[in-house]
Amino acid sequence: VSAHCAEQPVARIALLGTGRVGSAVLERLATLPGTPAAGRLLLVHAGNSRVAVDCRAGLPPLPPAALLRDAVRAASLEAVEHALGPHGTRIVIDATASGDVAEHHAQWLGRGIHVVTACKLGQGTGLQRWGAIQSACAATGAMYGDSATVGAGLPLLRTLRALRAGGERIHQIAGVLSGSLAWLLQGDDAQVPFSAQVRAARAHGYTEPDPRADLSGEDVRRKLLILARTAGHPLKERDVRVESLVPPGLSSLPLDALDAALGVLDAPLRTRLERARADGRVLRHVARLRADGAATVALEALLPGDPLATGSGTDNRVAIWSDRYRAQPLVIQGPGAGAGLTAAALLDDALAVQASYDARLAAA
Ligand SMILES: NC(=O)c1ccc[n+]([C@@H]2O[C@H](COP(=O)([O-])OP(=O)(O)OC[C@H]3O[C@@H](n4cnc5c(N)ncnc54)[C@H](OP(=O)(O)O)[C@@H]3O)[C@@H](O)[C@H]2O)c1
Repeated sequence: VSAHCAEQPVARIALLGTGRVGSAVLERLATLPGTPAAGRLLLVHAGNSRVAVDCRAGLPPLPPAALLRDAVRAASLEAVEHALGPHGTRIVIDATASGDVAEHHAQWLGRGIHVVTACKLGQGTGLQRWGAIQSACAATGAMYGDSATVGAGLPLLRTLRALRAGGERIHQIAGVLSGSLAWLLQGDDAQVPFSAQVRAARAHGYTEPDPRADLSGEDVRRKLLILARTAGHPLKERDVRVESLVPPGLSSLPLDALDAALGVLDAPLRTRLERARADGRVLRHVARLRADGAATVALEALLPGDPLATGSGTDNRVAIWSDRYRAQPLVIQGPGAGAGLTAAALLDDALAVQASYDARLAAA
């Protein structure tokens, strides 16, 4: 990433995952020289589920195929700590979707290793795992960078934390949190079959290769859990009622049979779009935490003046009601999906860890 710089302390980083997001992290690392972030991060470990490479002096930020070409070592989570070494600022960047890696977050934090993550399985699943992460951070002072987990780096979690730090109580949150579902519903056109929209979204790379992962609403459940817990409402997974858009017959099909069966989505969606339109409303996929603590992920028919009714493309849009934003919510909107934005958010979080280390050194 950079040569070790004598004047500035360098954070050593281990990158886990070399898929879409991990590759974009490597690409962005290669662009840092010449910017204020140059020389702050030293890549000492990179791996995926199969192989890994280490170099204490720093690995070059090459594309994964080149970086891992000569990898001889099988990947192992235990090796990550060894690769990071015993001292200094050490950061694990989690660009996987692995429950095993997420289960390790609290252990690393407990040993003073910072974690920055795009993976929602650390804070967006069981309350126990979320609690273990909070406790480990409190015990060691290690930082958990999570801005890539919801809204791909949009200032959502940090705004909630800043409001709470100022004494605010968060009353309600409502958000369009899935870029793919936002894109699928933006036209509000009952004449275009929903299955055709799903195929187009997949072709654009807006959905997962298996679009059922988006349509099930499970990814949005995790995002809402992370937002709610950050806002001071420690919900359990089962506290969020999720309406899946995948009918039972479609959920059990093998992936190669899915395309031919997508048409079953069309009639129910057309009915709902037409009903919403007849009522002068628009259909949106909304994650909502209500003032009474009820939490839902569902299609909602919204009036045009609703804070979530507008927005275009794959934009995320989140409305926050709190003590000071009581009548009119605070609304945060912007591009909230994609590997490039997610990678930028991960590296921003890693650089923030290093900046806080600098601040502590300066104060000592
Ligand atoms: N793609 C996006 O736009 C986006 C946006 C926001 C957040 N995210 C989140 O970012 C994460 C990564 O997404 P992605 O799209 O990059 O996924 P992806 O393309 O499927 O890549 C996942 C990577 O994780 C690796 N991996 C799996 N288990 C591992 C383990 N135990 N140790 C080390 N590496 C392991 C995989 O290894 P192999 O190569 O060996 O399979 C693969 O390289 C996910 O949590 C996703 O929800 C993605």
